[in-house]
Amino acid sequence: MKIALGADHGGYELKEKIKQYLSMRKEIELIDFGTNSTESVDYPKYGHLVAKSIIDKEVDYGILVCGTGIGISIAANKIKGIRAANCTNTTMARLSRQHNDANILALGARIVGDVLALDIVDEFLSASFEGGRHQKRVDQIEIEECNLF
Ligand code: RB5
Repeated sequence: MKIALGADHGGYELKEKIKQYLSMRKEIELIDFGTNSTESVDYPKYGHLVAKSIIDKEVDYGILVCGTGIGISIAANKIKGIRAANCTNTTMARLSRQHNDANILALGARIVGDVLALDIVDEFLSASFEGGRHQKRVDQIEIEECNLF
């Protein structure tokens, strides 16, 4: 399994912990798109880089970290085909894969503790999309125009 990592300065330290944690798993290959320090940067770039690596099929999943997980997930979700889920617990992480076929896990380093964050990562990576009734809903996310109004 190939995983892209990305973070802004607020998420840098947690990204490094996730990188260290996942690098112990032989079946996982990591690509780190930065940032590489706590120096202030703008999160959209990292959200977009990780999103692009998924759309280009360079990796299977992405993990993004910023202070809250909000900005970087909003940025990633602007890319067609990306379903970035900002998760604060393991249930959200599992259901984001099972029901929403999330291809990016977003984390808020200022919101979740390190131990919980690693549990969330484990849960996200071990859960599978259930398809079935969820497939048509996921397909509906990609509408070009909203026809409700
Ligand atoms: C950076 O200070 C912070 O705004 C960013 O990491 C993130 O929380 C934005 O959503």
